[in-house]
Amino acid sequence: MCGIIGIAGTQPVTDRLVEGLKRLEYRGYDSAGIAVIEKLGQQTQLIRRRAKGKIVNLEKQIELEPADGMLGIAHTRWATHGAPNETNAHPHFAGRVGLVHNGIIENFTSLREDLKSSRTFVTETDTEVVAHLIDEAMKSGLSGKDAFAQSLKKLTGAFALGVIIDGVDGQLFAARRGSPLAIGLGENENYIGSDAIALASLSTRIIYLEEGDWAVITTDSVEIFDADDNPVKRDITIVTGSLAAAEKGNYRHFMLKEIYEQPESVSHTLTHYVDAFNHKIKTTKQLKLSGLDFKDIERVSLVACGTAAYAAYVAKYWFEQIANLPVDVDIASEFRYRKPALIKNSITMVVSQSGETADTLAALRYAQQKGLQTAALVNVMNSTMGREADFALPINAGPEIGVASTKAFTSQLTALLSLAICAGVERGHINAAQERGLIEALTQMPRLIAETLTLDSEIETLAHDLSKAKNAFYLGRGLHFPLALEGALKLKEISYVHAEGYAAGELKHGPIALIEEGTPVIVIAPTDELFEKTVSNMQEVSTRGAKILLITDKEGALKTKGMADATLICPEVSVETAPIVYAVTIQLLAYHAAVHLGTDVDQPRNLAKSVTVE
Ligand code: F6R
Repeated sequence: MCGIIGIAGTQPVTDRLVEGLKRLEYRGYDSAGIAVIEKLGQQTQLIRRRAKGKIVNLEKQIELEPADGMLGIAHTRWATHGAPNETNAHPHFAGRVGLVHNGIIENFTSLREDLKSSRTFVTETDTEVVAHLIDEAMKSGLSGKDAFAQSLKKLTGAFALGVIIDGVDGQLFAARRGSPLAIGLGENENYIGSDAIALASLSTRIIYLEEGDWAVITTDSVEIFDADDNPVKRDITIVTGSLAAAEKGNYRHFMLKEIYEQPESVSHTLTHYVDAFNHKIKTTKQLKLSGLDFKDIERVSLVACGTAAYAAYVAKYWFEQIANLPVDVDIASEFRYRKPALIKNSITMVVSQSGETADTLAALRYAQQKGLQTAALVNVMNSTMGREADFALPINAGPEIGVASTKAFTSQLTALLSLAICAGVERGHINAAQERGLIEALTQMPRLIAETLTLDSEIETLAHDLSKAKNAFYLGRGLHFPLALEGALKLKEISYVHAEGYAAGELKHGPIALIEEGTPVIVIAPTDELFEKTVSNMQEVSTRGAKILLITDKEGALKTKGMADATLICPEVSVETAPIVYAVTIQLLAYHAAVHLGTDVDQPRNLAKSVTVE
């Protein structure tokens, strides 16, 4: 998704803008640009450099034609309206105004129509019209600040904006509606950025703008206004640790680093939900969820996108088995439009790494409008979902930079299983001994994940074969059916090898027609009560020529000797927690397949880390 950074500085800003853009690379982008107000004696001028593709292309442009100033904005664009080319790249200019934008201006066509007679539009974007609106307002005699405020009122859609204006020296304008934007406070300098990671090397004192806020930022002042233009004060958050987390260290890719961080990230998640000392799950009261009573709840509605939705599908099994609490899972982009039947004594819980995904956020707001209780299970607690839901629940995975979600997934699973146990205890569906057993299983997760990571080189070899395939299938039953879906998604998104996940029993109802000699089929089957049935399905495809990789445990390997082409043996793990451990194998498999194929693992084509458009 697009990224924004801006500096109102006392030193030249270009290098730091470019460095900030690099920190935003993880969000996904297809062009980049900067604009500064350059001073030539008493004269000033608005200048920009833009380039299609990676930030190195922009750096080359800047090297060829240096551009610097003390006030600047920069942008990584993930194309929505208009092709990813230099013309459509931000910053956009209109007269004296330079502007960067994240999100979508929904009424841009009618605004363009209104301005068409007096203005020339050179891009296909929805953004350019905003620069024209501000410039036009200044032509009518308004100050930069008033022109900005007036223009915001004309916009509909979800957006974050950063604006500089030639002749309005030293002022950086920012606005947030629907898309996140943060202000960083510095020494004699201030900044704006899409998130704290963009500002990591510049500031640890961060103000998160609230919905509808806009701001005027100079080197020594930050004025914030709400949607009704009233001056407001917003809290300063001290952000630590994000700088280190945004570095790759010795790892070749962020994705690999994040896969390896899972023993630690899962243990951070556990610290929040589990009273390990007493072998108990934390109560809703201890989790500071006062007002949430699982006893009174008739139904949980889990809503999410992508990998987070697969975590929700696993959680459905947990909540229903451990807490006897019915669960609906919805893909967020479908939720509000299918007009779900609403159950009063229910809770709608959105699951999201970023806490900013547009569809998931819309689902949260929809549930709130319908008067339902809401919770947000998010990795970024300061995110919009974290702030808007009735209850914010942390995933606690730490910053995830690789576009493909890995450690956030296992932490989502860990948090959701913890919540299912909490519900099970509070609804009286499990007894103290069962609770203790589940807590013991949970607390072994970090160690078992670390053990699973030792399979890395074996998985790398197996991935070599997989990377040569055109199509692959992932099969699982029960808790491992959603994991099959996640395995296929991981492979598709980073290696571009086509893959599908199926409930193992479903394959013979159609997709088995696609199996031919050598088609790779990855079977996820620890020895649980469904093991034998999954093995039967495995044999069905094996006899039709599929090349089987069985992911199981020691007992499963013994029982299936000679049946699979390759067997990956995971550590012994309890039935309930197995998906958390087995997730590591499918992540590594996709990762190594992608590395063999030489794809851009951390920033796969067409993908964005935080999808803030519908
Ligand atoms: C896949 C992936 C995406 C996200 C999805 C939701 O690896 O990362 O499918 O899971 O875009 O994002 P969040 O969790 O930020 O709402």
